[in-house]
Amino acid sequence: MKNKKNIYRCSHCSFETLQWLGRCPSCGSWNTFQKKEVSDKRNYEQDCAIKNYAQKLTQIKFQNKDFRYKSGITEFDRPLGGGIVPGALILLGGEPGIGKSTLVLQVAGKITKNVGKALYVTAEESISQIHIRARRLSVISEQLYLLSETNLDQIIYQIKTLSPKIAIIDSIQIINDNSIPYSPGSINQVKNCTLRLMEIAKKNNIAVIIIGHVTKGGIIAGPKIMEHMVDTVLYLEGEKYNSFRILRGIKNRFGTTNELGIFQMEDKGLKEVINPSKMLISSRDKPIPGAITSVTFEGSRPLVLEIEALVSSSFLNNPKRITTGVDSNRVSLIIAVLENRLGIQFQNKDIYVNAVGGIRINEPAIDLSIAFAIASNFKGFTIDLDTIVFGELGLTGELRSVGMCQRRLSEAQKIGYKRAIIPFENSRQLNSSTEGFKILGMKNINEINNFMRRK
Ligand code: TYD
Ligand code: MG
Repeated sequence: MKNKKNIYRCSHCSFETLQWLGRCPSCGSWNTFQKKEVSDKRNYEQDCAIKNYAQKLTQIKFQNKDFRYKSGITEFDRPLGGGIVPGALILLGGEPGIGKSTLVLQVAGKITKNVGKALYVTAEESISQIHIRARRLSVISEQLYLLSETNLDQIIYQIKTLSPKIAIIDSIQIINDNSIPYSPGSINQVKNCTLRLMEIAKKNNIAVIIIGHVTKGGIIAGPKIMEHMVDTVLYLEGEKYNSFRILRGIKNRFGTTNELGIFQMEDKGLKEVINPSKMLISSRDKPIPGAITSVTFEGSRPLVLEIEALVSSSFLNNPKRITTGVDSNRVSLIIAVLENRLGIQFQNKDIYVNAVGGIRINEPAIDLSIAFAIASNFKGFTIDLDTIVFGELGLTGELRSVGMCQRRLSEAQKIGYKRAIIPFENSRQLNSSTEGFKILGMKNINEINNFMRRK
């Protein structure tokens, strides 16, 4: 007996411990531990029945795995890196009511036309509700199967028997695996259901799209843990009162993550926005103080968009700093730089900054346009309508160069802009392809004073 010892193994999830436990810390089941005698010096070949051996990288046969199901909706395929990889597990997150079910139904419709069978599992709505929506979206296909079900075993059985190219689960928060004692939507339940769906996706080479609702705080309800397990995470974002919807890639094992797709919600579903630059600027005849056009980069695409600022008198001890679509910390920093380097006082002013079109931008390249928008609204000067402004602002007030300057300028030129205010460093490096563009290079934020005088 010297080399023998007892271990306790959970009959449900095979979790092992050295002492008996009432409740399994891994799967949460009760009274499932059973005693097992094992030799101290384990014979690994026998005990674990090893079937999997490490392989030399050089001996692995190359398989071209870059085959994808293209939905034909370019704005959906792009954040996925070009299409849906067979066997991939994709998480589509977003706030309730943003348009996730609409998007996946449209995608399912296209997949059935271009690729083959699709299964749409709806746990939240009835078959007739989906049917009404499908008619509204003109999604009519012999190859599209609908299932209204919340029980995971039933769902998995249907996926196995139908063997579709893609299966859609709408939504994971309502799905229930009866074998574990947790309510739907709880962390354990969501984690377990995702794991089982992952297994079915990988074993049968079926792409599975899981829909997950996002809470107000911005995390996918229940678990961030799902993000680790899935291959791709997409978020559908937008303001409900605004028709723009942005599909953003957060994680992608099959491509880059910083791509996005832009849609507009219309009465017949989500419509692709092929040329978004034109949509993110307001059309007006005369320039007004506080509205500045800039160019930002989202993934590999330049977007021309308008930044608006409003500075108004405040009667509060703590004046308001309200931003939509731009980072509020970044705006605070820009306000501090304007106060410090230009001597403008904002302490009794409320300041509102907005990116037109409901888009969200995190790029520091729009710093200069925010600074111009705030200063121009406060001082009442304007920047010509044919002018774009971009550049990153340092705490000392100096302007830092931004990447892909040339491409920003050509995007703006395409839609009719003729002048640009950009960091001096950028203007020095430009080549002749920007001919026809009048460039003004700025070294420091205090050069805004020249524009104030021109009002
Ligand atoms: P939905 O896809 O149900 O959102 P989610 O699944 O993310 O909760 O869409 C919700 C909203 O979209 C709903 O308020 C109505 C609107 N909508 C349209 O404007 N046009 C349409 O064609 C459809 C189907 C929905
Ligand atoms: Mg829905």
